[in-house]
Order: sequence, then structure tokens, then C-alpha cells
Amino acid sequence: MENNTKNPPIDRVDGRMKVTGGAKYFAEFELPNVAHCVVVTADIAKGTIAGLDTKKAEGASGVLGVFTHLTMPSVPGWDAPPSGNAPTGPPSGGQKYRILGSDQVLFAGQPIALVVADSLERAQYAATLVKATYKKQTHRTDLTKNRDKGVTPTNERFKDYTRGEADGYKSAPITLEADYTIPVEVHHPMELHGVLVHWTEADKVMVYAKTQGVKTTQKAIAQAFKLDEKNVHVHTEFMGGGFGMALRTWPQEIAVAAIAKKIGRPIKMVITRNQMFTMVGYRPNTLQTIGMGATNEGKLVGIAHNAIAETASYEDFTEGTVSMTKFMYDCPNISTRYKIVPLDRSVPIWMRGPGEATGAFALESAMDEMAHKLKLDPIEFRLRNYAETDPERNRPFSSKNLKEAYQKGADAIGWANRKSEPGSVREGNWLIGYGMSSGTFNASRGQATARAVVSNDGKLLIQSAVTDIGPGTGTAMVAIAHQVLGIPLKQINYELGDSLLPNAPNQGGSTITSTVGSAIHDVCSSLKNALAELALKPDAPLSGSRQDELVFDGGFVYDNTRSKKVAIVDLLKANNMPLLEKTQESKGGAEQQQYSMYSFSVHFVQVRVNPATGSVRVSKAVSVADSGRIVSPKTAASQMIGGVAGGIGMALTEEAVMDHRFGRFVNNNLADYHVAVSADVPHVETIFIDKPDPYINPMGSKGMGEIALIGFAAAVANAVFNATGKRVRDLPITPDKLLNKAV
Ligand code: MOS
Repeated sequence: MENNTKNPPIDRVDGRMKVTGGAKYFAEFELPNVAHCVVVTADIAKGTIAGLDTKKAEGASGVLGVFTHLTMPSVPGWDAPPSGNAPTGPPSGGQKYRILGSDQVLFAGQPIALVVADSLERAQYAATLVKATYKKQTHRTDLTKNRDKGVTPTNERFKDYTRGEADGYKSAPITLEADYTIPVEVHHPMELHGVLVHWTEADKVMVYAKTQGVKTTQKAIAQAFKLDEKNVHVHTEFMGGGFGMALRTWPQEIAVAAIAKKIGRPIKMVITRNQMFTMVGYRPNTLQTIGMGATNEGKLVGIAHNAIAETASYEDFTEGTVSMTKFMYDCPNISTRYKIVPLDRSVPIWMRGPGEATGAFALESAMDEMAHKLKLDPIEFRLRNYAETDPERNRPFSSKNLKEAYQKGADAIGWANRKSEPGSVREGNWLIGYGMSSGTFNASRGQATARAVVSNDGKLLIQSAVTDIGPGTGTAMVAIAHQVLGIPLKQINYELGDSLLPNAPNQGGSTITSTVGSAIHDVCSSLKNALAELALKPDAPLSGSRQDELVFDGGFVYDNTRSKKVAIVDLLKANNMPLLEKTQESKGGAEQQQYSMYSFSVHFVQVRVNPATGSVRVSKAVSVADSGRIVSPKTAASQMIGGVAGGIGMALTEEAVMDHRFGRFVNNNLADYHVAVSADVPHVETIFIDKPDPYINPMGSKGMGEIALIGFAAAVANAVFNATGKRVRDLPITPDKLLNKAV
């Protein structure tokens, strides 16, 4: 940490609880008298509800209520929607969509009735009895057919960008123009989305949520019901994966809260796997074009990156699809254009590596295509265009060790075995290929508060409201506290994921280790100073030593020679202190504007392609992260491996297929929507550069969640090209695309 030693790997602090069932997820909380809510959804993609027969459902056993746009209880805060493209809030974006708000149907899968019964089975049965008739209107759900209807989002960030000459690539001696597409991908954590709401008093509510931010959910519910925030208690200590889908409070969560209040019972709602495709967002179908020009010597002359993505008719969803192209390479002429097309679809949302994962597929595939045209090694081509400083903002990077990352990854995968001639390596029935790509994502430091309490039994408690959605945040926070105070790991307890705890942002955007970790670091440093003062008091054991030379280790404070020591426990006892407590807010300073802060990754894969079947296997994967100092190497490695698993799905199998005649997904279940399973994922080698970033935060740590995925799909596509000579530019790379494609 402050010194330059790498941190040791430690076990996941909640590992035992997770594998023994001790960890409780929102749907597992047992409340007396709980009722269950099941959602009935629209079959059509656009139109109005002509009739909604709820009589039979209302009469079914155990049914407590059937709520429709005619009977939905009012939500006081929904009268005045917030403005702007807010990531949170009731319901979103200042636009008109309110669940059960009118007879309008805006997308297939839109909730049209909520059925509440005294058991889940009774609610499920009654839901089948609700019958709707519609007045259909013509819908538009196909992005490809509607690509000419793209509009540039109003937010400054998404304005067309030009550096040098727009489309300057065209004047280069070697040029490339290619289209890349990604389909709809859906976050499919094991844990389904939903909420459990319990009004404990008329104006007090307890919410067990599936949320990436308890404080965000608290705000959203407080706004929706015009409550004081302190009357809304949100708990999400454990979450079975989010990947972006739980970064906002969805309208159905607010609706359940409204209905629970109305019927006077706690209500649990868990949506179905099918509903996960339309009720909690997805990565949007995106069409991209890259134009690239280079000199014969392999120096980039220009890149033009155009992207068109889908959004809903009722909300503008935007993401940084073309962001990476602006700064990734040293290139004089850059132009980017980003447009969105409103369709009769549910709204997309962020999904791991939002924007950049999509953009990197196009940019890093194009880099590989250009390297091939130039007869250059893809790493060499990237090195010839390496950006030493940020060419977009014209300022230094806070840290960038991408050259070292290329080298380490190349060594680990055996890049020297790669033949530059595609299709030239065969082992039995399989063609072998190697590919690589880079990824990057903003690394920032936000604002958070943390509390730390050391007590005279030698224990340390650390607290923050942040939710651990799975990457091991609890472990990382315990590691940081241990690194600052030297208190043994097993004596450190942590409390996370509850709105009563000190303020922390959403777990998202790869910022939590930086943001909340810094708060834990700072509050533990304050405790350390207070303990040092006690140790240095005139009659105390270390009196006369220098404060800045004290060593905290194993629950003791030592002088610099370790010849004198005092136990923290004894210090507290000697001062009649049962405990010593600090709460502290922490945020970045001017350095956040003086430097461009990004994490970088490099992914290398070896693939095996069977030319007879078109089957692609990722047979080796190496991911290298340049994420500053690694706080918790073991959980960090797990996070990188998870990124590879997601990346293999993105590259080879994941696609939500819509039948545009109906605007409905045909593979809306986990049997037909293929996420990568263990058998698809080879041994993954993770490598960390593990050099502290000197500016970003006191640990020198940058984020990692997004870069674990960003770029990976391009590495696979590049390896498939190297194996076969076939370039697939539309994900996923399914066998049909390889079999149907001429070399
Ligand atoms: Mo992530 S898409 O910020 O959960």
C-alpha cells in the first residue's frame, strides 16, 4: 500500500457463508404474512389495451388483488417525473413510461397486470386467468431496418466528435471500411430480479432489494412515495450478480411498494427468467462502422467510428460506444458519431463494460484487420500507434502500463507460436489460431463515507452502505483495513449493503475499490493516527518515538526498530476506552482533472475451429489487467475469470433473437439463450501488472470489473480469423457464420 509491496492473496471473507447458504439474498428473507406478486405482460409490441378481464383471477383462491392501469394505486412522486437522463429515480429519464400508468402498450413484455395472492403458486395460477384484448398498432422493433431513423442524443458527451479531419482516414494509402454488429445481450445472473417490500408503519418501509446501490434504491423509493429518506430502509447485503441490470430502481419495484402499502401486507415479487429479457434492461443491438487509414509503415492516419444503437420509444438510453476510439491510439484524424433509434422495445440498460465492450469489438477487430493488411503483427501495429498521453484531452494518463501488458500476455499465451498466415496451423481436425485485443475503461474516484471502530477486545469493524454484487468488495475492504492498521484479518468484521450504513455509491462502473476503498483507507488512517497519539503519550509505551515511524502489525504498534511495542487492546484499556470510532467522508481532489484515468486490459486467446462443423472452442485465455495496485489478488483474479466467461458468451453464443413480426424474443429462456458454461471456459490465466497508480487514490488502485470483459470478444474474432481466414464481424460467432462464409 504506502510501501511498494504487493498485497497477498486472501480468502473471500464471505466465501463460507455463500457456499453454505448462510448468505441471504433478497428473496430469502422470511416475513410473516407475506403475499406474492406475479406480473402479467403484454403480448403485443404496440397498441392499446382494449379489454382486460380480471374477474376470474380476482375470484381465484387466495387472491388478494389484481392491479391494472384501472386499479393501480397512485404513486405520489410519479406526478412530477425528474428531468434528464437520470440513471435512477421513479421511474426514469423524465419520460412518460409508468408501469400500469395507462392503456398504452409500448413494448411486448410490458407489465399490464400485477396479481397478488397469499402464495406464489396461487398468484401464478391466477395470473394465467387474466385475459387481455388489444387494439394493435404497427410496431417497429428492427434496428437494421430502421437504421436511418437514428438521432444524436442531446447530451454533450454524445455530440459528433472530430479531431483533425473528419473521415481523414480516406486519404491514407491503406484503408479499411467494415461494419460490425452486436445483437441484444441480456444479463443473466443466476439470481432473478425482484423485490420484497414491507411497510412497517404508514410512512415507513423496509425493502429487501436486488440493487447495486441501497442508497440509490432508498432515494428512488423515498421520492416515489414522498417520504423522508430515513423512513426508507433498504437491505442488500448479498446479491447474486448484477452486471448493470440493478443500477436503477425499475418501475415494477415501485409498483410492488405501492400495492404492498395498499393491501397492508409485505409483498415479494421475483420476476421470471422470461421477464428478465424485457423488464430489467439489456445490452442494446448496435450497428457500427469503422473506417481506418494507415501509412505503409503502419502509422494510423485516421479512424472514423460510427455507431447506431436501439433505445425505447419512451426513454433515451445512451452509452459510450465510441468513447474508446477517441483516445486509445495516437492518431491525428478521429471522427466519431453515435446515434440512437427509438423502437417499440423495452429500454436497454448498462451491461458489463457498457458501451466500451460494444465499441471495442469493432475497434479492436478493425485494428486486427488493418494489421493483417499491413502484414504487421497485431501487437507491433498497436505499439506503432501507442498513445503515451491522452490524445483526446491532451493531458497525461495517471498511469498506463499497456506495453508491459502486451508483452506479459504474449509470453503467457505463447504468441510466438502464432503464424501470421491465416488457416495455416492444423492439429488433427482442428484449425488453431491466436488473437489478441485491448480494452479500457474510465477509472475514477467518487465520494463515499466509511466508519471504522476498533474495540478493546482487539476487533475492528468497518462499515459502508456499498452493496457487494459478487466481485468480493467485502474482501477488498477488509484487505485495505488490514493493510492500513495491521489488525489480523480474522479480527476484522465488515458490514455492507444496508442503507443505515455510511453513504456509498452504486456498485457499478468499476469504481468501488477506488471510491469506497479510499474511504475505508482514510477512516482507518484516522484511527491509526488516533491510536498513535495514545501510544506516544508521555507515559505511554512508545513515548519518545516518532509518529511517522510507527509500525502497525498484528494488532500491535511498534517503534521503527521494533524494539518497543504496545498492543492496541492495551492502549484502549489504559485510556479507559471500550472502543475508538471514526467516521469519515472521502473523495478525490484536483488530480482527478489533471490526469486521464483509465484502466487497461489485454486479452489473448487461442481458439480451435473445426472447419467441418464450424465449432469454435476457446482453448486458452490470458487476460492481463493494468489496474494499478491490486488490493486483493485472489478476488481480482476471480473477477477477471468472470470477465472471460462473459466474453466467451459474448463472442460465441449470446444473442437474444427477436421475431420482428411480433416484437418478441424467441429464445427467452436459459435453454435457448446460451451463456457460456464451465465446459466452454478453458483454464484462464490472469496477470496483473500490479503497479500503483500514483494519483488516483491512496491505494493506487484502478477498477477492473469492466476491463475484464471489454475487448475480449474481439480477441476471439481475431483468433478465429487467424485460425480460418474468415472474418466474422457480427456477433456471436456461431457455426453457421463460419460454414456459410467464403474465405
Ligand atoms: Mo456495471 S454495467 O457498471 O454494473
